[in-house]
Amino acid sequence: MNKIAILDFGSQYTHLIATRVRRLGVYSEIIEPQNATPATLKDYKGIILSGGPASVYEAGSPTVDPAVFTLGLPILGVCYGHQLITHLLGGKVEPGKGKGSEFGKAEITIKKPSGLFTSFADKEKTQVWMSHGDRVTALPPGFEVLASSEDDDYSAVGDLSRNFYGIQFHTEVTHTTKGNEMLLNFLKLCKAEHDWDLQSFIEDAEENIRKQTKGRSVFMLVSGGVDSTVAFVLLVKALGPERVYGLFVDTGFMRDGERGQVEAALHAEQIQNLHVYDGSAEFFTALKDITEPEKKREIIGRVFLEIQAKVAQKLQLDPARWMLGQGTIYPDTIESGGTKNSAKIKTHHNRVPEIEALIKEGRVIEPLKDLYKDEVRSVGERLGLPSSLVWRHPFPGPGLAVRILCARTEDWPENHATLEQALNAFLQEKNSSLLARILPIKSVGVQGDFRTYRHPVLLTGNATWHELELLAPALTNRFHGINRVLYALEPSDISFAKAAAFTVTPGTLTPERVKCLQHADKLAMLWLKEISADRDVWQMPTVLLPLSIAAPGKESLVLRPVVSEEAMTAHFAELPMDKLRTLTAELMEDKQISAVFYDITNKPPATIEWE
Ligand code: XMP
Repeated sequence: MNKIAILDFGSQYTHLIATRVRRLGVYSEIIEPQNATPATLKDYKGIILSGGPASVYEAGSPTVDPAVFTLGLPILGVCYGHQLITHLLGGKVEPGKGKGSEFGKAEITIKKPSGLFTSFADKEKTQVWMSHGDRVTALPPGFEVLASSEDDDYSAVGDLSRNFYGIQFHTEVTHTTKGNEMLLNFLKLCKAEHDWDLQSFIEDAEENIRKQTKGRSVFMLVSGGVDSTVAFVLLVKALGPERVYGLFVDTGFMRDGERGQVEAALHAEQIQNLHVYDGSAEFFTALKDITEPEKKREIIGRVFLEIQAKVAQKLQLDPARWMLGQGTIYPDTIESGGTKNSAKIKTHHNRVPEIEALIKEGRVIEPLKDLYKDEVRSVGERLGLPSSLVWRHPFPGPGLAVRILCARTEDWPENHATLEQALNAFLQEKNSSLLARILPIKSVGVQGDFRTYRHPVLLTGNATWHELELLAPALTNRFHGINRVLYALEPSDISFAKAAAFTVTPGTLTPERVKCLQHADKLAMLWLKEISADRDVWQMPTVLLPLSIAAPGKESLVLRPVVSEEAMTAHFAELPMDKLRTLTAELMEDKQISAVFYDITNKPPATIEWE
């Protein structure tokens, strides 16, 4: 059997390992560790133990049968997997509070260019991506150090005679520059053959669709985005046009002019049986007065489903003969806490409890649920969809509703003044002339596979992208009370920002606020196209904050351009500062806007969307 087994301990990135391995041409399968008996694993070519949010020394943390170490197969442990190998084979792992925790980029130096690093040069330095709290502090017998970072002597270790390897960083994310090379070296050690590609995925997917539908038809929610369109086309290819029906719901939280564009794009694809429903009244009513992000997400998912049921009833579709189709992709599942050991980061609109119930009853079909966005795009291209559609920026199902923060009053951290002082002292220590102010609102982030809901810090003053790129991770690594760092485009004057009062302008999801953001978002997206950065940037949410600087009653905007390949990790995009000044001036023309910020946080520790 030419397959690699990946035991899932709940990392946000587990599936990414599977994808990377598949892209290297070797089929890989994710297995829950409790099902991974030596008997089921013995025929695989090698085993990868994933990362995960738990700590090995805590009671009840997930583990694996130690007999897997006697199968004679190469084993690679990533992050939690690395700690687990160390723990089970007699080394030591300690909680990495403070200095030990590392999130984001780090540099390792190769100490022994063998095994996993056989293609590397001795003493070669290479960039890796860390996301962990705990760390290895002593090696099991037979192991030696293969690479170290400044903060961690045991970044990569191995027992070369048995082909067991442990790495503290994540090979599978793109920010680990030579991660693929390390995985390729591991596959060589596994003696795996390279015989898998995306064409096999399409063929298998069509076959699976026919099997899973068992003669039923599919009622599919489409948004005009790449995922649902590719899923729709794949369903039509497998079942024929008569058996697939599309429903496009306008939530009222779309971008300006989006509804018309989506309708035109779907019609151009000859998607027949398409029904358009204006659900804005239902969504606004259900979300009235809601401020909490998860509550918003749950309500949105539920209302989508209620509308779908209403339309199905009107069309007199017999529920026994119809399934619900969704364009769900893998990150939607994993971030919703959808695998056994994963923590919930956000409830995606297609993973609310009502949908989970339908999934259990076998009434939902999601042909792309194991893929990442970049794979979906490749499938889309293979299916002949135009590149204008395939390369559209991702836009979340809940739309602008999760880009309009809602609040009734200021929400400061408990130790606000002390924290702000410490942040400024830290900046001085780093010889930075910037001023730090904490904002009285919160946003969602992800750290070490857990959800965070914390305050952003705003930096004001003159700085280069290089300085900001170094400072942002340094601040979030050092101060765990904050999960986002912003740079002030306007106001940009330090003494003004120092003296100004930061107040919350009470606000919920209203048509006026949606209009305000639609206008800003339109300007920002046109600008991105004008400066020809729309292809390099993965997506650029514009976010509306109920936050006023100096003049109470106004709001603020955040630009959040990111560079990414699959949205599991992202780097903030560095766009030309002089041109940003032009956009800022345009955005500030709206009298309701008191400030414009630029989000300079990577993912982790901040997610791409704010909620
Ligand atoms: P985050 O904010 O979790 O986003 O870093 C990762 C990617 O997922 C998109 N996103 C969603 N997509 N339904 C979706 O279809 C959702 O509920 C949802 N929430 C976030 C987000 O835009 C980014 O591309």
